[in-house]
Amino acid sequence: MRQSLNINRRSTWLRRTLSDITQKFACEEEVARITIVGTGYVGLTTGASFAEMGHDVRCIDIDSEKIRGLNHGRLPIFERGLGDMIDHNQTLGRLIFTTDFDLGLKDADFIFIAVGTPQLADSSSVDMRFVFKAARDIAEHACAPAIVVNKSTSPIGTVREICNLLTSHRPELGPWRVVSNPEFLREGSAIDDCMRPARIVLGCDDHHAAAAVGSLYETLHSPVIITDTNSAEMIKYASNAFLATKISFINEVARICHALDADVATVAEGMGLDPRIGREFLQAGLGYGGSCFPKDVAALTDMADRSGLHPQLLTAVTQINEDQRHWVAEILETALGGISARSIAVWGIAFKPCTDDTRKSAAIALADHLHTCGAAVTMFDPVVVEPPAFAEAASTKLDAVAGADALIVATEWEEFVTTEWAEVRRRMRGDLVFDTRNCLDPLLVQAAGLRYIGVGRKGAFSPAEDPVAV
Ligand code: UDX
Repeated sequence: MRQSLNINRRSTWLRRTLSDITQKFACEEEVARITIVGTGYVGLTTGASFAEMGHDVRCIDIDSEKIRGLNHGRLPIFERGLGDMIDHNQTLGRLIFTTDFDLGLKDADFIFIAVGTPQLADSSSVDMRFVFKAARDIAEHACAPAIVVNKSTSPIGTVREICNLLTSHRPELGPWRVVSNPEFLREGSAIDDCMRPARIVLGCDDHHAAAAVGSLYETLHSPVIITDTNSAEMIKYASNAFLATKISFINEVARICHALDADVATVAEGMGLDPRIGREFLQAGLGYGGSCFPKDVAALTDMADRSGLHPQLLTAVTQINEDQRHWVAEILETALGGISARSIAVWGIAFKPCTDDTRKSAAIALADHLHTCGAAVTMFDPVVVEPPAFAEAASTKLDAVAGADALIVATEWEEFVTTEWAEVRRRMRGDLVFDTRNCLDPLLVQAAGLRYIGVGRKGAFSPAEDPVAV
């Protein structure tokens, strides 16, 4: 089965390791038995994807309501393709959900930790309670040696701490081998990111264990990096911090474009054609949100601070992101001649399209600010049903704009981009459309008699077109 492992083949040592592993699986069994602790975004998509690859997967969660739902076809999150994949693999008997640690951990070859690592309240540090509880649960219920893999985004040094915890609780099952295998999946395209990862990062002091985890992904033919545990953990933080930096950079450039009458969408297009820069994550807008970027930049800043460093760039990235929504609100205020007592429709509640996740949503933060300034806010989202308590709920995007003085497009759902603008014009009281994600065609909006504002965009220009060769 594992003939052509696509793992870093630079050393003879590693080639030998891979061949050992190939033989182990070829001789002993066709599929690996994988247990995933935690059925949040990462755990669910990782579990479903491993099952799809043919492995035998058991997912454990302490939330019995969630497990009952999963066993009755109810998904706790909105993620395209996930429901079908879970359904398919449950039917084949390759994917099981349980709250029972003894059942879930029985005969596992690999035990993945995929629980939440939220930011602590009133601190930039990471709340590691769930990771260490998962490690203690594994130590308590494991009955045979297994490779433990940490997928939860955790501060540098966590893998070593997990290893120490397991060793002190269950020395007889040692030596424990713990591997860092950070996830890079994006909500909204999580399945695709799991099945077609740009890279697989494995960190372990025992390279045999790292290569064994790498063998689980062999059918994906993705590049694999094997390194030490601290470097693997750092790759995750540095990657997210770099992407957040690109976003804050382009948002700062957008403000400068606004001041100097340039068009940031065209600027990003022109910059992005340089392969050293790249087009991705140069979409100016309302700033980043979600469960990862804000907390991961904060955690990396915190780790640097604790090391006696002064992470000026990371601090600025966070500050620019937080300022962005206030800058947007100021532009809105100028364009509307005041926010108080205005009726404002907001399209988009989640932190980005194709998800119902509202954690650290910039759309909600902006709407909250407008509400605080005295505006009446009505919100609509294609998948988030409940808006925040301060806002009115609308059941369609057109209902949301009825009688509105202004419309704010706060996430770039396709259904917003393809709007019939003449209908919006008919329903609104005012005429202002603020495209805070730069996702609309200004000309189409303006053609319906509406005023268009983007983020650092020249409203009179069409969006950057495909480059023309000369
Ligand atoms: C991110 C990382 O991309 C992923 O690799 C990691 O494992 C988890 O965190 P996610 O939070 O799901 O994924 O969403 P992502 O698509 O990265 O967007 C994050 C935020 O940045 C969103 O609020 C999005 O609207 C914003 N964003 C993204 C921009 O404002 N501009 C861009 O150009 C790209």
